Amino acid sequence: MSVSLDGRVALITGAGSGIGRSHAVLMAERGADLIVNDLNSEGLAETAECAASSGGKVIQFVHDVSDVAGMARKTQAAEVELGKIDILVNNAGVSGERLAFEDVTEYAYDRMVDINLKGSFFLTQAVVPGMKKRRYGKIINTSSMYALGGNNVAAHYSAAKSALSGLTNSLARELAEWNIMVNAVAPGFVLTGMTSRGRDREGLKKRVEQVPLKRMSGEFDMAYTVAFLASDEADFITGQIISPNGGERIVGI
Ligand SMILES: NC(=O)c1ccc[n+]([C@@H]2O[C@H](COP(=O)([O-])OP(=O)(O)OC[C@H]3O[C@@H](n4cnc5c(N)ncnc54)[C@H](O)[C@@H]3O)[C@@H](O)[C@H]2O)c1
Repeated sequence: MSVSLDGRVALITGAGSGIGRSHAVLMAERGADLIVNDLNSEGLAETAECAASSGGKVIQFVHDVSDVAGMARKTQAAEVELGKIDILVNNAGVSGERLAFEDVTEYAYDRMVDINLKGSFFLTQAVVPGMKKRRYGKIINTSSMYALGGNNVAAHYSAAKSALSGLTNSLARELAEWNIMVNAVAPGFVLTGMTSRGRDREGLKKRVEQVPLKRMSGEFDMAYTVAFLASDEADFITGQIISPNGGERIVGI
């Protein structure tokens, strides 16, 4: 039996592809109505179509998560339309492009922090008042395995994702009295548009060989964790950073 999200409304950012799409499809299958966001209108429309085939309501809006005022406005309109937002999945993100530390420009740094951190911070600020009023909320941020142990090719990515851990822990404390749980998922390697660029078959094979479970993440491995954190079965879990990664962190890749 799978965890139910019947009657819940979830807002998922960056849902136009990859991990965000898998969150949308799985949460819709499990009974949630959805508000999905992305910058990429085509990808977002495909996600919305897939998710709507489960029978629930799906609202989509194209917007840049780093535009704080615009996101708040569009989120508020969608919240009015569906009546509430119970679950927020801050998933939109950009990769570190495998940049060496000296090559991270101010532009690359600002873009990284604006999308990964500022977008999550202020979108959370936009949904929290409604959650407080209803005394219910599940907020799930998207960190990374590279926030847990760092990495050697994208310090700005690790830094932004690590900051999300601090945000997660602080909000878990601050919002607990309103029955709002705040957690983060820290994915291991998942083959998506973000991670497939510039990788050959041989490189991927080597990568998999280093994973204790000897496989890459399946399409829904992150989504299962997030759907669980979003469900009533996770009502006693807050301030946690959970990393589905096939055991990679054990061996410190
Ligand atoms: N794939 C991995 O191995 C991996 C590992 C750790 C963490 N993550 C994190 O998981 C999340 C999803 O990554 P993914 O691998 O599915 O990548 P992806 O590139 O497939 O998906 C990211 C989505 O976010 C959207 N997006 C980017 N900037 C945006 C913005 N400013 N506003 C709105 N939408 C925007 C993109 O259009 C895209 O659809 C990211 O936060 C990423 O950092 C991924």
